Amino acid sequence: MIGVLVSGEGSNLQALLDAGLPVVAVASNKAGVRGLDRAAASGVATAVFSRDAYEDRDTRDLAMAEWLEGLGVELVVCAGYMQLLRQSFLDRFPGRVVNVHPAPLPDFPGAHSLEDLLEAGAQETAATVHYVDEGVDTGAVIATERVPVLPGDTVETLRVRVHEAEHRLLPRVVGDLCAL
Ligand code: GAR
Repeated sequence: MIGVLVSGEGSNLQALLDAGLPVVAVASNKAGVRGLDRAAASGVATAVFSRDAYEDRDTRDLAMAEWLEGLGVELVVCAGYMQLLRQSFLDRFPGRVVNVHPAPLPDFPGAHSLEDLLEAGAQETAATVHYVDEGVDTGAVIATERVPVLPGDTVETLRVRVHEAEHRLLPRVVGDLCAL
């Protein structure tokens, strides 16, 4: 069973739900985000674990891990979750936390990867699914789908096409991991 972490729009969460994958829990660090609405609309349990509500990040991440475990989650998917996870969280799900990222790794990590990639003059980006460790997008890559940069692309136009690739790639990879 799958738990998904979101911080915003949740279009990748929607792709997992639309693929019929067994998503049983969706957590966010932010209240009121669209990803939580998408989960609720599909009858999936939701919870908010904001940093401010806990003494420190470890305490917050442990509370989130316990909530996910309590719902039977075995695989955690970060889908636009824009916070680092502490080792104490990762230890609860060893080798079972993955993330989707809009650019090739390790070359373009972080929250502004498409901006960095266009600025560097790269010819292509890649929807990327990788294992999560304590670093910023530093875990081993599992699978990618290449997306060419077209003449005149802006971050916005490129992001639309990367999202399309992510929505194909992520459900396939997560489905494969669930079957292991
Ligand atoms: C996705 O494009 C994902 O690759 C990116 O945030 C977007 C979330 O979209 N994540 C990162 O940049 C992580 N470093 P969504 O909320 O519509 O799924």
